[in-house]
This record gives sequence, structure tokens and C-alpha cells, in this order.
Amino acid sequence: MEKTSRKGIYLDYSATTPVAPEVTAAMLPYFTATFGNASSTHSFGREAAAALDEAHSVVGCAIGARASEITFTGCGTEADNLALRGVAFAARKNGRGNHIISSPIEHHAVEGTVHQLHDLFGFDITMLPVDGYGRVDPDDVRRAIRPNTALVSVMLGNNEVGTIQQVGEIGLICRERGVLLHTDAVQAPAYMPIDVNALHVDLMALSSHKFYGPKGSGVLYMRDGTPYIPTLTGGGHERGRRPGTVSVANAVGTAAAIKYVSARRDEQAARLAVLRERLIAGVLNSVQDVQLTGHPSDRMAHHTSFVFKGIDGETLLMALDVEGIAVSTGSACTSGNPEPSPVLLAMGIPVEWALGGLRMTLGYHTTQDDIDAVIAKLPFVVEQVRKAAIEFA
Ligand SMILES: Cc1ncc(COP(=O)(O)O)c(C=O)c1O
Repeated sequence: MEKTSRKGIYLDYSATTPVAPEVTAAMLPYFTATFGNASSTHSFGREAAAALDEAHSVVGCAIGARASEITFTGCGTEADNLALRGVAFAARKNGRGNHIISSPIEHHAVEGTVHQLHDLFGFDITMLPVDGYGRVDPDDVRRAIRPNTALVSVMLGNNEVGTIQQVGEIGLICRERGVLLHTDAVQAPAYMPIDVNALHVDLMALSSHKFYGPKGSGVLYMRDGTPYIPTLTGGGHERGRRPGTVSVANAVGTAAAIKYVSARRDEQAARLAVLRERLIAGVLNSVQDVQLTGHPSDRMAHHTSFVFKGIDGETLLMALDVEGIAVSTGSACTSGNPEPSPVLLAMGIPVEWALGGLRMTLGYHTTQDDIDAVIAKLPFVVEQVRKAAIEFA
């Protein structure tokens, strides 16, 4: 796979990915020649609308859904927000429930929305426990469902620790009990196949920039017939589910990106899983007081994450950056926050370890040379950071 022209080793593919050249090429005409508003009825608009229809079909087909079940949004965060509020408000309006079940390892896009639904709108929430790998037990979901449960939201692949949840099992339980299930699958599409029917989900969020597509572009999958009230009000775009003139270029780019990863995913996931194991073994064998976080095998193929005892993760990130290695302390969205990650704490990791969280996520351009260079440099950098911490204590 062709490398990007940028120098340095990029191990932050969970934060974002470069846009694939095929994706950029597919998008370009929709900024210039085919610039029409897809809602206009003249020929310029109809041309854009045809491209938008095709994008709905391509994305739907890639995840086992119908075109009518795909809504293009402004990002993954927006897709999560629309899903949760939309279903909660509809349940409230229809007198169908006031209770939401979620987990403490969700991304802020879900966690913040669930808490706002509790704080401002009076929904009852149940936060499920997770085990030491950050996994929800499907039996806990079964036990938590009440007659007034409106929605369960459990993510597919965790952004901070890489653990894959048993969403299919959770989905079967929800189906049996007549409860809707939402999953945040933002981290998954480039590294594992996604089929909304195998997962038994009713709502799902995706984000194009996590799978080699454009930033500022997301997808909300919503099973036909799901009771939903749009949180944004405006025109009837996207079947009224997400009012606002649609970026046809982004929709076309998202469709091109899902095709791009669908064609490469199996081969890349197998290749990356080998590199992931090499990196994990390299780190655990060469550094003292380090632990892998997340599940050792039920984790996304591209994902590694660790905690280093007695180190500030942010300082380690900056020291690695000086060496030309780009990593993250956890979720990109919480970088710069000196507090220990709530996800790591929920997994029972003690604070003095949790403060030293580091995530290294691989992608389609990562090579074995990259991994070997990181394994060679990391022990030295960790030692320097530990020494400096003792000197300045
Ligand atoms: C699991 C998860 N959900 C949602 C998001 C938000 O996606 P976006 O950046 O498109 O808003 C992210 C981004 O890091 C994520 O990792």
C-alpha cells in the first residue's frame, strides 16, 4: 500500500485516517461540475440527487441495510446524538418507555447524550458494569431490561482499548424483549465486517474519516420503522431525519470509502493483526511496569493500548512525538485532559496506572519497519520520561 508523503510514523489511525486517493477522486466532481443542490428539482439538482441516491445504496449494501435506512450526517458524533435523542424522544411521546441502558466505556458522543437525557429530560439510566477487559456481559443487559426500557446503547469496538463487544448476543436479547439497540460502530468498518442483521441492531453510527473517507461526514443507520423524532428541525432532507442541505461530495466520498475498505478489509485485518501482536509482544518484553489494556484477542485488528505505571501518558506522547512517532493517550477527543480515563477506571485499572495510558493504532499504511522502529525506540523514551519524572518530583 502506498505511503502518504508525510514523514514520521503515524500510529493514530483510531483518531483519523488519510483519505484514500480513490475517495478524493470520487468526490472532486461534486465540488465543481456536479455542484447542484440534491433537493432542487431542475437537472442540476437531479444529477446531484442521483449521486446521493447511489451513495445511500452503496453504504446500505456494505452493511446489510436498505438504502432507505441510511442517513448521511455531519459526523459520527452527530449520528450518535440523533440516534439516542431521536429514539428517546419518540419513546417519551408514544408512552413507550423512560429508561435507557448503556455502558461506562462509551465514547463521549454517546455518554454525554445519555447523561443529558437523564439530567435535562428525566430519563432513568442504567450503566452496565464492564469486566477487566472493558466488556459488557450480555446477561447483565438481560437483567437490566425493564418493561419501560426504551433503548440499549453498547458500542461495537472500543476506541480507547480496542475491545470488541458481543453486540450480536446483546442484539438477540434486545430483540427477544422488544427493546431497540443502538451501537456506535465508528471504530470498526476498516478492520472488521459489519452487518446490521448479524448484529441485530436497530441503529448504528459510522464516521467516514475513520475508514479513509472525508472528515465532517457520518452515517446513521436506522432500521425501517424505528420510532424516531429528529432532533434537528428544518427541511425534509434525508427523509426528514437529518434536515440540512446534504454534502453530496461527502456522501459520495463515504460511499467510495466504504467500497475501498470492503475490498481490502480481510487482507488488511489479517496483516494488521500480525503487526499488532508484534507490537504488543515488543512493548511487553522490553519495558518494565507496562500492561496491555483491553481484550488480548477480542480486539480490533489494528488496535494496541497500554498503561505504563508511574508515567503521565501525555508526557510520553510528547516525548514520542519528538522522536517522530504519533500516538494517542486514549480517545483523541480527550487528549490534553490530565484526568485518568474513565474507561480505564471503569475496567478497574488503578489510578497510578490509568494516568499512563497510551494508544497505538495501526492502519493500512503501517509497515513492519514502522513497528520495529517503535519497538526499538519506546523503551528508551519510557526510561527518559520516568527518569525526568523522578528528577522533577
Ligand atoms: C467510538 C467513537 N464514536 C464516535 C466518535 C466521533 O466521531 P466523529 O469524529 O466523526 O464525530 C469517535 C471519534 O473518535 C469514536 O472513536
